[in-house]
Amino acid sequence: MSDLLKIFENKQALAVQYAADLQQWVKERNQLTIALSGGSTPKVLFQHLATHYINKIDWSKVHFFWGDERCVPPDDKESNYKMTYDLLLQYIPENQRNIYRIKGENLPQEEAIRYAAIIQSVVAEKNGCPQFDVMMLGMGDDGHTASIFPDQMELLSSNYICATAKHPVSGQIRVSLTGKVINNAKQITFLVTGSGKAQRMREIIKKEGAYKSYPAAHVKALDGHLRWYSDEAAVTLL
Ligand code: 6PG
Repeated sequence: MSDLLKIFENKQALAVQYAADLQQWVKERNQLTIALSGGSTPKVLFQHLATHYINKIDWSKVHFFWGDERCVPPDDKESNYKMTYDLLLQYIPENQRNIYRIKGENLPQEEAIRYAAIIQSVVAEKNGCPQFDVMMLGMGDDGHTASIFPDQMELLSSNYICATAKHPVSGQIRVSLTGKVINNAKQITFLVTGSGKAQRMREIIKKEGAYKSYPAAHVKALDGHLRWYSDEAAVTLL
């Protein structure tokens, strides 16, 4: 499948299009499984969905997972779940919520095992692996994605569904989907914005420099589509 780079004037315009795309993907299915990314980039999208789409998407069809989570309690400011709940999930009517959070308060290794079992019980399998309908990914300045960091490239080819990871700078322990699950998704969508990502974007898209050392460069749609949603600031070097 060909990759596609969608370029938007700014984060807001990106959020408008992504929300419309999500609405269409939900319409096309009886159930949609999505793995959300954390960090700051998705915030504008979640706010846009909460403002404009609560009554425009049948949320009862949407099953929310996370691509990674920090091993902190769900009310911690670092929690990807908390960020998503505060900006979007709390506005979805409770009887329409299907939320499967990574329990950051659990022992990391035990949680990786527990969450993998949850994924296997809800997400359809294809190619011998859970196949998410939508995989939302961000990319760090160091080229990491989910919580697969450049010093843990083995997570890209792990046979596990979930694994523990460690942020190389802060030492924060994470639980992350592995590359096998990420690459098996039907719609793999990178949301990358801001000038801070421009150098990595150039290296990855043009396959230049040390791109092979960036986990994000190893995200490939094995059985679906890979789409980059970027703003103009992130592609100034392309
Ligand atoms: C996380 C994310 C991580 C994030 C990138 C980009 O838990 O931090 O899942 O992979 O997507 O670090 O983060 P920003 O969107 O904040 O640049």
